[in-house]
Amino acid sequence: MLIFVTESVSKMWPVVILVWLSAPFGLSCTPDLQFPSWFKFGASTSSYQIEGAWNVSDKAESKWDRLTHTIPETFKQATGDVACDSYRLWRRDIEMIEELGLQFYRFSISWPRLLPSGFPNIISEDGKRYYNNLIDGLLEKGIEPVVTIYHFEMPEIFQELGGWTNPLISDWYADYARVVFSLFGDRVKTWITINEPSIECDYFHTSEMPYNAGLEHGVASYMCNKYVLIAHAKAWRIYDTEFRHKYNGKVSFSNHLLWLYPSSPEYEELTEISREFISGRYCHAVYSKEGGWPPVVEENVAKFGRKIGYTRTRLPPFTKEEIELVRGTYDYFGLNYYTTRLVRPSYPGESVNPSVFFSVIDVDAVFDIDPDWRNGLNKLLPIHPIGLRQQMEWVQKHYGEMEFIISENGYSSTGSNLNDYERISFIKDHLEQVLMSINEGINVTKYSYWGLMDDFEWLDGYRSNFGLYEVDFSDVNRTRTPRKSAAYYSGVIRNRSLCYEPTHIDINTIEI
Ligand code: NOJ
Repeated sequence: MLIFVTESVSKMWPVVILVWLSAPFGLSCTPDLQFPSWFKFGASTSSYQIEGAWNVSDKAESKWDRLTHTIPETFKQATGDVACDSYRLWRRDIEMIEELGLQFYRFSISWPRLLPSGFPNIISEDGKRYYNNLIDGLLEKGIEPVVTIYHFEMPEIFQELGGWTNPLISDWYADYARVVFSLFGDRVKTWITINEPSIECDYFHTSEMPYNAGLEHGVASYMCNKYVLIAHAKAWRIYDTEFRHKYNGKVSFSNHLLWLYPSSPEYEELTEISREFISGRYCHAVYSKEGGWPPVVEENVAKFGRKIGYTRTRLPPFTKEEIELVRGTYDYFGLNYYTTRLVRPSYPGESVNPSVFFSVIDVDAVFDIDPDWRNGLNKLLPIHPIGLRQQMEWVQKHYGEMEFIISENGYSSTGSNLNDYERISFIKDHLEQVLMSINEGINVTKYSYWGLMDDFEWLDGYRSNFGLYEVDFSDVNRTRTPRKSAAYYSGVIRNRSLCYEPTHIDINTIEI
């Protein structure tokens, strides 16, 4: 048993550390449960979900400010106006990261906070100061800042001009990325250009979402898909030519990939085609040797389009120059992994989701959930840990060996839930798959749990909690309290092993 006593920097958080170490249930303590010395653990957040201060100083509106203020019913009456108040409480965030013993912290920069007009003609002094403080504060504690340049937070001015479906967005985004690299690139060495393009393009163009013009037959999703990849590529090339020689960092983007299995062996081919639609559409252009869209996607979009009377393909073609622009623009593979689906053709008379999220209308593929899979609160994210490893195997088989960073993986609960044993087994089960991947020769170097703390969870408002720390949203101080999963994760990190299971952790304690 280890007992330590410490006091937080703010003096408000005396933390008694009490951790029992014991043999882990279900695991025998073999050396392959040990993480290699180079492997790094972190946790993630994003600006709109935690910062608050939506109209402080010269910050401009993002699309989420506009949406939550105008159609609150879509967001369970919640807004990110205050969220976790991290704009004010960033020192406490760093303290939590330190308590956990994280080696890196992934956060995002708010485009409308840093560039109020959306363009680089005005750089907000307060925005710059906020991110400088956060980055410097992390580095002082020896924690690596991993920075997402865009995490769903489109400036409202650009959203009104079509957001990611407007071809000009790639230049607007690239100009913003250049500002970010030039302000923070001396200290930030791992960059994520864009978070989850597939959610941005496919999920945000489903009928549940307010911006759903062109959702029929994936029209808007496919447009967004192309321009988001071009935007990423332009940012990567800017870094490569203007900053890499000085700063020597790594730049990529983070894909949310949905792992797919056939629901019966005869659907293996349909499943592989569906993987190309769901994952390949966001990977092939960047990671494959030939670039561009996956050929099977091009063929099937054209074929189905002709069948239903389109005279032009809905998948905007890449020109030769665009293929070359996008191809090879990565330094690692960023993967957000949450869940898996089973693939089958639609039943006679069954209507297939007209958007391209969680189904593929172009090949008549429907995705199901295995009723035996466990669930957190979010029923869209049934838990299937082995899918994490199989997804990386698929990527590696298709695009070759490269470094993998797991930039997100998390479990949702609801209400006050400090004794979150389900989250502990979620983390353990996924980290076990990470270790198996490493032992199989996949170069996974980082794992980031989503999220550091409860936050504004988009359509779920504050109902869905992913945090290692529980946040009291009814308290003006947005008090953060570690859950048992925080103590567990911290124990894994400090022991660098899964061969660790706390049998009892006092609720307000965490290992330091
Ligand atoms: C992925 C997104 O990047 C993040 O914003 C979201 O909160 C988590 N998934 C959980 O849904």
